[in-house]
Amino acid sequence: MKKFNLPFINSTLVISAWEKERLIGAVRVLSDKIIRSVIYDLVIDPEYQGNGIGKELLKRCIECFPDTEWLVQTKEEISGYYERNGFKKQKDVFLSIPSKYIR
Ligand SMILES: CC(C)(COP(=O)(O)OP(=O)(O)OC[C@H]1O[C@@H](n2cnc3c(N)ncnc32)[C@H](O)[C@@H]1OP(=O)(O)O)[C@@H](O)C(=O)NCCC(=O)NCCS
Repeated sequence: MKKFNLPFINSTLVISAWEKERLIGAVRVLSDKIIRSVIYDLVIDPEYQGNGIGKELLKRCIECFPDTEWLVQTKEEISGYYERNGFKKQKDVFLSIPSKYIR
């Protein structure tokens, strides 16, 4: 678990949502703060989904670096969610070397 805290610790920005002591949502961002910002790991507790929390977390992220380009890599079935929140699909080719932690 310690190792999997590191992506959050090493992020430019982490915003979390809480119901009293309970963590119910989070998102992290890697950004150069000028040109480009990338959304990672937006996740809302299933019990709290559909209440605008994801939308609010995205909005707060974008407000932190409003002049940068914003990118997110996601599955096809989630892409509509980001489109609803202002993102547009791009035709650019996406290339990767896989992480040993992500299949
Ligand atoms: C995707 C996710 C972050 C959305 O967060 P949320 O707080 O539930 O979403 P919001 O309340 O901001 O928005 C809800 C609206 O988005 C819509 N929506 C949810 N998932 C959607 C999808 N995959 N495609 C299109 N619209 C979607 C809902 O129907 C709802 O519409 P309504 O406002 O008209 O009722 C959340 O469902 C989640 O954590 N999913 C699992 C993790 C995940 O896939 N994260 C993305 C990684 S890149």
